Amino acid sequence: MDTPRFLKAIRREPVDTTPVWFMRQAGRYMAEYRALRQRYSLLEICRQPDLATEVTLQPVRRIDVDAAILFSDLLVPLEPMGLPFDFIKGEGPQLEHPVQSAADVDALVRFEPRDALAHVLTAIRQIKGELGALPLIGFAGAPFTLASYAIEGGHSNNFARTKSLMYGDPAAWHRLCALLADVVSDYLLAQIEAGVDVVQVFDSWVGALNASDYREFALPHTQRIFEAVRGRAPSIHFGTGTGSILEELRDAGGDVVGVDWRIPIDVAWTRIGFDRGVQGNLDPTLLLGPVERMLQQVDDVLDRVDGRPGHIFNLGHGILPSTPVEHVQMLAQYVHSTGARGQ
Ligand code: CP3
Repeated sequence: MDTPRFLKAIRREPVDTTPVWFMRQAGRYMAEYRALRQRYSLLEICRQPDLATEVTLQPVRRIDVDAAILFSDLLVPLEPMGLPFDFIKGEGPQLEHPVQSAADVDALVRFEPRDALAHVLTAIRQIKGELGALPLIGFAGAPFTLASYAIEGGHSNNFARTKSLMYGDPAAWHRLCALLADVVSDYLLAQIEAGVDVVQVFDSWVGALNASDYREFALPHTQRIFEAVRGRAPSIHFGTGTGSILEELRDAGGDVVGVDWRIPIDVAWTRIGFDRGVQGNLDPTLLLGPVERMLQQVDDVLDRVDGRPGHIFNLGHGILPSTPVEHVQMLAQYVHSTGARGQ
């Protein structure tokens, strides 16, 4: 059987057309997801393999994507570490006891994902059974982004507490991030063993760091995760607002580097180097319409990439909840009909 174009692109091999998938391709913009959420909470969906399987497959049935992404949440490994949380309607995640001190860091534990997160691994096996040849992406958070939720207790705009701990008690910061790197490495290896074809590491908020702080406080930990999975599965390294730290992100690892819309994709790729792939980078807001502008910007991304093998089309961040599903369908079809061919 022919290798799927998504896996070929990750290896920077020629493809019949540009592969495409979307961050948050499952979720609130889909009526069938909203219908399920009437009956179950987000955490119930994450914890019940049948529900996680169903939601993972929802976008695959309706949109011409080249990969599925496991339905779960970035914060799922925090609970077995000792950081329980819930999702509060309209506000997002909220931790019961955020990390405030070195003593709080030292109370956290490394755990066995095959026990504590067995339901996620069961979901992966079920999803793989349903997907056929379509590749499945597993994922986890990078230490900086996970640490920011552990310390802030939820979403933050300026990362004041996170940076205060980082600058004020660097030893505790490094212990926290080293533990997160262990937890995430264990978890991704368990996902790979259960059947995911590719892993993506989300460092969604790491653009809050400058290059020198990234090298000191984030890179060594993220690098350990990519070293742990190297040779086991291909990897994607994603962040937003990373225009001033792309070289550092690349040095931390990843066969493919995800870039957002704030930087032209060809400029990003030149800086990352053509020995890596790139993923991106349409502004998710463009999917709200008008579609003429959305398609114009797709042309712009594809022109800039100019058929070079190793590009995976995606958004610069996740699909917004108010996005019309028809626009997502049209976008995937348009990428396939105009994408790079066989160079
Ligand atoms: O991409 C996918 O389709 C897979 C599913 C997925 C979810 N979260 C489901 C979800 C993935 C890959 C994530 C990752 C995630 N979760 C990240 C990193 C990616 C990113 O967006 O930068 C982060 C930072 C989180 C933490 C998180 N989860 C927040 C801040 C929120 C609330 C904000 C919001 O959009 O409501 C969530 C909730 C969440 N995770 C939803 C979904 C579909 C919304 C769910 C709902 O209320 O039904």
